Amino acid sequence: MCGIVGYIGEKQAAPILLQGLRRLEYRGYDSAGIAILDQGCIHRARSVGRIDNLIDAIGGKQFPGTMGIAHTRWATHGGVTEENAHPHSSCDGSLMLMHNGIIENYRDIKEKLGGEHVFRSETDSEVLAHLIEHHYQLLTGKEGDARLRLSVEAALSHVRGTYGLLVIHKDHPNCIIAARLGSPIAIGINLGEYFIASDPTPMLAHTKNVVFLDDGEIAAVTRSSLDTFTLKDEHIVKCVEQIDWNDEQAEKQGYPHFMLKEIFDQPTVFEDAIRGRYNLAEGTANLGGLNMTPTEMQRVSRIVLIACGTASYAAMVGKYAFERLAGIPTEVDVGSEFRYRDPIIDDRTLVFAISQSGETADTLAALREAKRKGAFVRGIVNVIGSTIARETDGGTYMHAGPELAVASTKAYTNMLAILLLYALQFGRQRRVSLATGQRLLGALREIPRKMQALFEQAPAIEALAKKYASYEHFLYLGRGINVPVALEGSHKLKEISYIHSEAYAAGEMKHGVNALLCPEFPVLAIMTKNQLYDKMRSNVEEVRARKSKVILLVNEGDEQAKELADDVLMVPPTMELLEPLLNTIPLQLFAYYIAVALDRDVDRPRNLAKSVTVE
Ligand code: AGP
Repeated sequence: MCGIVGYIGEKQAAPILLQGLRRLEYRGYDSAGIAILDQGCIHRARSVGRIDNLIDAIGGKQFPGTMGIAHTRWATHGGVTEENAHPHSSCDGSLMLMHNGIIENYRDIKEKLGGEHVFRSETDSEVLAHLIEHHYQLLTGKEGDARLRLSVEAALSHVRGTYGLLVIHKDHPNCIIAARLGSPIAIGINLGEYFIASDPTPMLAHTKNVVFLDDGEIAAVTRSSLDTFTLKDEHIVKCVEQIDWNDEQAEKQGYPHFMLKEIFDQPTVFEDAIRGRYNLAEGTANLGGLNMTPTEMQRVSRIVLIACGTASYAAMVGKYAFERLAGIPTEVDVGSEFRYRDPIIDDRTLVFAISQSGETADTLAALREAKRKGAFVRGIVNVIGSTIARETDGGTYMHAGPELAVASTKAYTNMLAILLLYALQFGRQRRVSLATGQRLLGALREIPRKMQALFEQAPAIEALAKKYASYEHFLYLGRGINVPVALEGSHKLKEISYIHSEAYAAGEMKHGVNALLCPEFPVLAIMTKNQLYDKMRSNVEEVRARKSKVILLVNEGDEQAKELADDVLMVPPTMELLEPLLNTIPLQLFAYYIAVALDRDVDRPRNLAKSVTVE
């Protein structure tokens, strides 16, 4: 959580940093701050709330200067106040620091620094500014910018926890120090200027050439140089990577919210996800990133899919696909639980870590645990160069483009696309026939057109959402492959509308949940025409008998089903394994329009952040 951004070059830094913060706001948005260094003076502004509040706080003041750092916060230690907003300063105000992460031993450090330092916030981050100041004072013999870098290195050697860090000092007008352990740092390179940020989105308008720091690395960035070191001060050479996202993808492009734009992006980015990754003639997928020989693939006896939140619901669909197509026993584990039990992992286990951001702390910790135990670990990740992408031994980018709304939509459908392709690739090696493989690929290629057709219903879904927006509870039901769809629909509704919502496998209702049914508890049931259609229909009958309102998601042309429903959502038919790709979209739109009807902050729901980098 928290977004950090830095700039050093020839241009005015403040506008670049403020624009950069807007791009990173999805990482946290309870307060923000900026520090600009100009002619030996540091200008600082901080405010509670959004970036607009920070701009108001800067007001008419002059913030000239061509280097600076900025931060958008998601509070962990210390409440949402101006004093707790970053940047934090050293006692004498010479040094300013931005931090993303958690300093676990901050109390010990504070105690050791003792009465010599004045702490002005309740945060863990502030102790770092004082600790660096302490070491800076000890390093009087050192000349130039090396003194600042070495004092950061010395300070970090006492730290336990995680950090993505930016530091500036008034006596070092041509230097920003960046360091990373557990929280990402990307450095964009352009002629005579450098951009530093938690991810590449703030720099897309300026450069596509990016260096990603790895854990335990520190960078000294000047207007004309980028030098990278280990924390033991050994010089290291980093590769420059190319980012293929563009700046327009990170704009709303006329939509009122990123979430709506990203929902409508789905047909296009789905095509991006599958393009070039299958072979129709052979009825198989060819995801090269798997990095496994045919023999290694044959040896796989178990698959474990690790993910959190929406990614975990995509993983549940993946479980169906791997088991049905490849016949490989597959489990889904949420990242936060995986490493706290004793997961059974061996060298025949293939683990996929699935994550839009590629930074989710729980997913990352779980994949490290799986690696430790000898599994093959692969990533299905959206953000290029992200930590999960770097720490897996292969995998596939999902090509959803920048996803900026906190509620994940297009990344979810692209996760499904990649999981289905992997399942097909393993399936063709084991038991799926050429004809079945070709049929699945044929149906997959039809998906973007069908998604597009679905959008024609958006006005009707909006009207339906207005009708139901005043209910305080919702229940989502599905069976089989639509259980994860129900879970995802319910997840979307609660995270952006704050309406209490539950999701169940419809067959489970009679074991307890039926007790909740009443006219004030509407039920959204997914009843598309698959092998469990009749079973689902009986479950819906049971719900109706208990007088709950029923919204049914059915296939176009299912006239009979309408008799069972108060309201109906229609989706085009497709193969059962692909149903989640279509069935989820009306639920995304339903949640979106309810949140709009309730005047919620759709893209920035309360208490959440998109990239969850703390445990
Ligand atoms: C999705 O709408 C949520 N914001 C959240 O559940 C998210 O899917 C989860 O935090 C995992 O994120 P990741 O895909 O970046 O790992």
